[in-house]
Amino acid sequence: MVNTEKFIAKAIEEIKTAAGNEKVVMALSGGVDSSVCAALAARAIGDNLIPIYIDTGLMRKGETDRIRTIFGNIRLQIIDAGDEFLDSLKGITDPEAKRKAIGERFIRVFEREAKKVGAKCLLQGTIYPDIIESQGGIKSHHNVGGMPVDIEFTKVIEPIRDLYKDEVRDVAGALGLPKEIQHRMPFPGPGLAVRVLGEVTREKVAVIREANWIVEDELVEKYHPWQCFAALIGLGTGVKGDNRIHGWIVAVRAVHSRDAMTADPIDIPFEHLVKIGSRITADIPSVARVVYDITAKPPATIEYE
Ligand code: XMP
Repeated sequence: MVNTEKFIAKAIEEIKTAAGNEKVVMALSGGVDSSVCAALAARAIGDNLIPIYIDTGLMRKGETDRIRTIFGNIRLQIIDAGDEFLDSLKGITDPEAKRKAIGERFIRVFEREAKKVGAKCLLQGTIYPDIIESQGGIKSHHNVGGMPVDIEFTKVIEPIRDLYKDEVRDVAGALGLPKEIQHRMPFPGPGLAVRVLGEVTREKVAVIREANWIVEDELVEKYHPWQCFAALIGLGTGVKGDNRIHGWIVAVRAVHSRDAMTADPIDIPFEHLVKIGSRITADIPSVARVVYDITAKPPATIEYE
């Protein structure tokens, strides 16, 4: 465990030295990693920090409004790029190709916005597990392996690259960030795209966004999971009213973990699981079936792709 005060002082120095007098852009998602980076950079370089929130169209329900409320007092730019991301994902079914397409699009949108403000320097909230998992060839995290090589930024600053998630949360506390941010569940950079098996479409994203919201509403406060979410894993037959339908199969995943390297499924009472299944199928007519994922990591990963 790092000494948080020492870490904060060192990180601020590192950002100051790397940025000099240049403007620095960063992707602020509102998760704990990017929020900690923003707070560090704001202390280090003040108004030279330009945080940008990119709405990829793959975010959770209500996320953009939440960001607007929480960070409304800083000079935050909100970019609606949902259509661009869906275009980039058209026809792509391979999980790695999806991650790369999202990573590439993310950087391109960034480059475009950075150019508008004259920034050549990028700040990223990459943390240690992102780096080892990308190096180990497990998958490319959209902010590491997915980075296009012809990136136009002259400098990339990653002040929390040596920290595990629980250490980032400690630093968030020491920086005085709101508890809601400090304890927020991780959400993957590629967003809901890794919770939709196969090709990502507007319809599938809408379904999984709603299901995800129900799962969080049912489980977050009760179990304080490392993560809980819904994933769209296929199509199956169901009966709704008098009709047999071909509907979506939604998987519910809820895990405890220390650092995402390993994870255990949460022992949710059966009645509660049945209630969640009923709520999802009742609220989302195109869902025919709900299953609960009982696999640990390893052998499964936390996300579905
Ligand atoms: P897995 O699915 O590999 O996930 O067990 C481990 C943790 O990392 C998150 N995750 C990501 N985070 N970019 C991110 O920023 C990504 O591409 C990505 N993929 C997975 C995941 O939500 C879990 O917390």
